[in-house]
Amino acid sequence: MTAPALQTTRQCPYAPPEEHTRIRDTDSGISQVTLPSGQIAWALSRLEHIRAMLTDPRFSSDRRDPNFPRFTREQPSFDIMRRSIIQMDPPEHGPARKAVVGEFTVRRMAGLRPRIQEIVDEHIDAMLAGPRPADLVQALSLPVPSLVICEQLGVPYHDHDFFQVRSSALLSRATTAEGRRQSVTELRDYLKDLIAKKAAEPTDDLLGRQLAQGNDPEDVLSLAFLLLIAGHETTANMISLGVVTLLERPEELAALREDPARTLPAIEELLRVYTIAEFANSRVAVEDVEIGGVTIRAGDPVLAMSNAANHDPLAFDDADEIKLDRGARNHVAFGFGIHQCLGQNLARMELQIVFDTLFRRIPSLRLATPADKLAYKDDVLIYGIHEVPVTWDDPA
Ligand code: HEM
Repeated sequence: MTAPALQTTRQCPYAPPEEHTRIRDTDSGISQVTLPSGQIAWALSRLEHIRAMLTDPRFSSDRRDPNFPRFTREQPSFDIMRRSIIQMDPPEHGPARKAVVGEFTVRRMAGLRPRIQEIVDEHIDAMLAGPRPADLVQALSLPVPSLVICEQLGVPYHDHDFFQVRSSALLSRATTAEGRRQSVTELRDYLKDLIAKKAAEPTDDLLGRQLAQGNDPEDVLSLAFLLLIAGHETTANMISLGVVTLLERPEELAALREDPARTLPAIEELLRVYTIAEFANSRVAVEDVEIGGVTIRAGDPVLAMSNAANHDPLAFDDADEIKLDRGARNHVAFGFGIHQCLGQNLARMELQIVFDTLFRRIPSLRLATPADKLAYKDDVLIYGIHEVPVTWDDPA
């Protein structure tokens, strides 16, 4: 059987690749594609189908299954991910997620707000004191989520470069199998050491509290690894994409500045239109399942084309338009069902603080390179921008 190769290049930064839209707009909305691994996968592209899959226990999240959709030829066999909630199925997943969900409640997040505000202000101060143009990615987008997740976990921030470099390498499709293995080994050794120190000398941070609850250090290691990877690039890329989009829409930005109540709905819309973790909702079928009139057989890889689904005209009016006041939360940018993003409240809050503070403190902020000349990331699993040169006027 042959199936066309999966296209991943976006012709427009926030629209799904045309091939995904074409599949979505066929009668069934389902087709087969060949992944970079050589696997032939079912591609789901409608919101209704992806949400159905994500709430159906006949689909597994086990990324160790050889039939799980992959973007590399080699089968990653990272021991460190063995006990990671993102690849657990029920009944194992529920208790493991419950052990950590208390760290991400709205209340816990509210407690982090003053510190995140401080971090954002300090980085804006440093950017303003430095040369123009500045690269927003290095000045703000990357360090803010990186510092926040390091502090939350209890990882010394002076090691954050070490994490940033290795987590970026893991998420880049350009990284060789050997490079990937090396990044994982180095991260594992570092985290193992850190967790052993915390076990010997208890600390009041997320990892310390997991150990104090009596959780197995191997499980805490898997959790630390997952949170560091999940918490770095994702929010960073949304900060960069969001700032560029808002700067390109001065009237809407002015309305946002005047009324901060508009920021959260705008964030929701940015999450929807960009869907940066486009394929993160993929699964493997463990039983035969019918979706949209198509029979998916046990063992078939299923690719979720979540950006196409988040632009599905059957689910959203004027789905391809950015409407910052749309406020639609039925998108799958944070997934859906039992694996829905654990860090979503944290991500929303970081984005809210960054946007509100940045545009209030630097009203003259503008792009120093036109938006259509920016280097968008097409070679990675998380969509984003490599560099965002920005400039501003001297204070009056
Ligand atoms: C799961 C997206 C930020 C931690 C997910 C999933 C998506 C996603 C799509 C579902 C994966 C699946 O179903 O297999 C995003 C986006 C983010 C973001 C777009 C930023 C804008 C974060 C942050 C953290 C985090 C900041 C942690 C600090 C997690 C974890 C899971 C997850 C632990 C797995 C949950 C489970 O399996 O029960 N994320 N994420 N994410 N995310 Fe996020």
